[in-house]
Amino acid sequence: MKIKNVVSEREGFSTKVASYFSSLSSAVGLGNIWMFPVLTGLFGGASFIFCYIFFALLTGIPVMVSEYVIGRRTRTNAIDAFGVLGKPYMKITGVLGLMGCLFILFFYSSVAGWVYSYIGKAITGEFKGISNMPLDQANTVSQEIFNNVINGLMGPFLLQLLVITVVAIVLILGVKRGIERLSKTLMPVLFLLLLICAIKGLTQPGAAEALKFLFVPDISKLNSTTILTAMGLAFFKLSAGSGTQTTYGSYFTGSTNLVSNAIQVCISDIVVSILAGIAIFPVVFTFHLNPESGPGLLFNTIPLLFSKIPMGGLFMTLFFVLTGIAATMAMLSLVEPVVAFLSSKKLLSRNTAILITSSLIAVVGFLTMHQGSYVNTIQLFGLNMSFFDFFNNGSSNYLLPIAGILFSVTTGWMMDSTIFHDEITNNGTTNKKVYPILRIVIRYLTPILILVVFLNAIGILK
Ligand code: TRP
Repeated sequence: MKIKNVVSEREGFSTKVASYFSSLSSAVGLGNIWMFPVLTGLFGGASFIFCYIFFALLTGIPVMVSEYVIGRRTRTNAIDAFGVLGKPYMKITGVLGLMGCLFILFFYSSVAGWVYSYIGKAITGEFKGISNMPLDQANTVSQEIFNNVINGLMGPFLLQLLVITVVAIVLILGVKRGIERLSKTLMPVLFLLLLICAIKGLTQPGAAEALKFLFVPDISKLNSTTILTAMGLAFFKLSAGSGTQTTYGSYFTGSTNLVSNAIQVCISDIVVSILAGIAIFPVVFTFHLNPESGPGLLFNTIPLLFSKIPMGGLFMTLFFVLTGIAATMAMLSLVEPVVAFLSSKKLLSRNTAILITSSLIAVVGFLTMHQGSYVNTIQLFGLNMSFFDFFNNGSSNYLLPIAGILFSVTTGWMMDSTIFHDEITNNGTTNKKVYPILRIVIRYLTPILILVVFLNAIGILK
C-alpha cells in the first residue's frame, strides 16, 4: 500500500510533550468539570464512576490509539484518511465522527456560554451577598442566578456567539501557535486550581458523605441506561470516536509513543474528573442539594463552595476563567477536524472553512438554548426530548461509540498488520510486549464490548 508523504506540507506539533498536552487539552473540558459531576449525580455515584473508568480503559483507550494510528499514518483529515489507507468505503467512519463533533458543538457552545457568563459574575462580585446568608437562602439565590443565565432570550445566545467567535479566532491563528501554546501553559494551572478546590471540598461538613457517594459503589444502581451513559461519557471524555484524535494524531511527531500517550491522557483526564467530583459533591451534601439536579449542578455548587473561603471571589474568578479556557480548548478540538476536512479540498480556504463551521454552530446551537420556548423540543421520530438532550445523547451514546467500533475495526481488521505494528511500536523500537495484547483488544474486545452495550440498551440482549 502506497501512502503519500504529506507531512512536510502540514503544520504539526513540535514535540512529544506537545502531543500529550494537545491531546489532553481536547480531552479535558466541560466533560470533566460540568458533565462528569452532573452524570455521576444523576446515575447514582460510585457505581457509575467505576463503570465509566472501565469503559475509558477498555473502549476509550483502544479507540483513541486506533485514531492516532490512522491519523499519524495518513497525515490527513479524519475522512480522507480512509481513502489514503485504501478503504474509501470506510470514510463513513469519519463522517459519523464529524457529525458527532457538530452535535457536541451545538450544545457544548451553550454550556460554555454559561461559563463565560459566570466569569463576568465572579469578577463583578455578584455572589458576594451569598457568603453571609443562611444555607437555604444562599442556595435559593444561587439557583435563581443560574436560572436567569439560562432562561434569558438574547443573553444566552449572545454568550454562545461570543464563545464561537473566540474559538474561531484561536483557530485562525493556526494549530501550533494557537492550540499548542495555550494547552502547554494552561493545563497545569487548571490542574492546580482544581486541586485547591478539591482540598477545600474535603474540609466541608458533607465531605464524608460525598466520599462515600463517590467511591463506595452500590451495584443495584447499575442498569442498561447507566451502562450506556457511562460508555458514552468515556468516549465523550477522551474525545474518542469523533476524528478529533485522528486529526491531532496526524500532527504528532514520529517519535510519539501512541500507546503511552493515550494511557497518560486517559489517566490524567480521569484524575481531573475525580478532583472536580471531590470539589463539588461535599458542597452538595453540606447544603443538602439534590445530586440529581442536572445541568445546573456545577453552577449552583461552585459559588456556594467559594462563598465560604477567604478571598473566595478571587478564587472563583480564577476557577471560571480556567473552566472557560478548558471549554474553549476542547471546542477547538471539536471544530478543528471539521475545518481540517473542509479546507483539505482546496476549494475553501482555512479561514472560510472556519467561518462556515462557526456559522453553522451558531444557527443550530440556537435551538439548544431556548429553554421553554417552542423550538425547545424535538418531536421527530417519536422523540420527545429537548434539542439539548437530543444532541447530547445522540453524540455521546450513539455517534461516537458507533464510529468507535468502525475505527477499531479499521485498524484491527482492515489495515495491513505490519502498518499497525509499525505505528504501535514506532518501527519496532518500543511496546513490543504490549503490541500482541493491544491487537487482540482492538480486534475483539473493544468492538464486541461496545456492541454488547448497545444491544443491551435497546433491549435485544438482556
Ligand atoms: N472531551 C471534551 C470534554 O470533556 C469534549 C470534546 C472535545 C469532545 N473534543 C471532542 C468530545 C471530540 C467528543 C469528541 O469536554
